[in-house]
Amino acid sequence: MESLEQLHGRDALLEELVGALERHRLVTLTGPGGTGKTRLAEAAVARVRDRREAFFVDCSTLTDGSRLAAALSAELQLTDERGPEAAVEAWLDGGPRLLALDNLEQARGIGSSVERLLGAAPELRVLATSRAPLGVRGEHELPVPPLGLPRDATPEAVEASPCGAMFLERARGIGRLRGPLSGEQAADIATLCRRLDGLPLAIELASARTRVLSPAALLRRLDEHDMSVLSRTDGSDRHRSLEAILAWSLDLLNESERRVLEAAAVCAGTFGLDLVATTSGARDVLPEVEALVSSGLILVDEELEAEPRFRLLETIRLGVLGQLGNREHALRKAHAAGVAAILDTWEPRIDSP
Ligand SMILES: Nc1ncnc2c1ncn2[C@@H]1O[C@H](COP(=O)(O)OP(=O)(O)OP(=O)(O)O)[C@@H](O)[C@H]1O
Ligand SMILES: [Mg+2]
Repeated sequence: MESLEQLHGRDALLEELVGALERHRLVTLTGPGGTGKTRLAEAAVARVRDRREAFFVDCSTLTDGSRLAAALSAELQLTDERGPEAAVEAWLDGGPRLLALDNLEQARGIGSSVERLLGAAPELRVLATSRAPLGVRGEHELPVPPLGLPRDATPEAVEASPCGAMFLERARGIGRLRGPLSGEQAADIATLCRRLDGLPLAIELASARTRVLSPAALLRRLDEHDMSVLSRTDGSDRHRSLEAILAWSLDLLNESERRVLEAAAVCAGTFGLDLVATTSGARDVLPEVEALVSSGLILVDEELEAEPRFRLLETIRLGVLGQLGNREHALRKAHAAGVAAILDTWEPRIDSP
């Protein structure tokens, strides 16, 4: 069922997605947990329904990609005595269809199953959502960024921004924040949106807290790195808290990717490959950084420079730091040594006229 809550700030992306589905047979929405991939896929399914049959299938419990046909036949209630593969193929023969496969990142080997499905049904289009791309040839990747932040801290800018509007809709929906925003409230909400990186799930969890905590009180807790304010007791397990959603992502990483992510978390602001390498104690971190960028855990800074710069979403950084325990000290020392080494290479240039 489509959500009763408004879809904020996605007009252009939804247009782009619907257009991409006309041109490509496999479109994958990627991005970190809670960025709004599922929500956007649902909206796209609703949009294309007047043109072709469209189905939305939640695949979040599928861990073995080779069982896709079985999952589909169960979800769509297809039966065939020859087995689930045959049932799905017979169903796909029925005409042009859009199949939205939601939440695929945990399904091992899903790429080849999706490829086989597309090969068997020439009229089929697949809209996948996954924190990382499926790695299928011809896949069209569409990253889902967080919501747009307020341009400045005025009430008008907060109301006009997708992120501010989402926060206000939810907070007003539970009876808080009645009437027009004061300058002070707007400033707090603008800061909150920024601190939460405009991540829809974080905005949702924070706005639900306004039943008890003002935006200023929420900010104070975030300043103290108290992530527990971003949690709730209902909803799917994965979406109960920011920590839960991060744990789900971390579980999908291998040991060296996890080490590189931890090194990145102690680098405040933007950082380059060399610094993460020195901090993590590895020589070459390119493969790991590439995997982490793919799964939306590390962002590539927009500015294109000779050497790439990266950053972490603040919410992810705080979550990773929170799990470091006594490893943090050693990492910080390695980081400081890395920064000192970089400054050394600058010195000759600083001295020159
Ligand atoms: N543009 C939006 N406007 C309003 N609410 C949104 C928007 N995008 C997402 N949400 C809400 O934020 C929450 C998280 O979004 P969603 O479940 O789509 O994230 P996701 O990227 O699919 O996360 P995951 O990777 O964990 O599956 C949901 O409750 C959703 O309804
Ligand atoms: Mg999802």
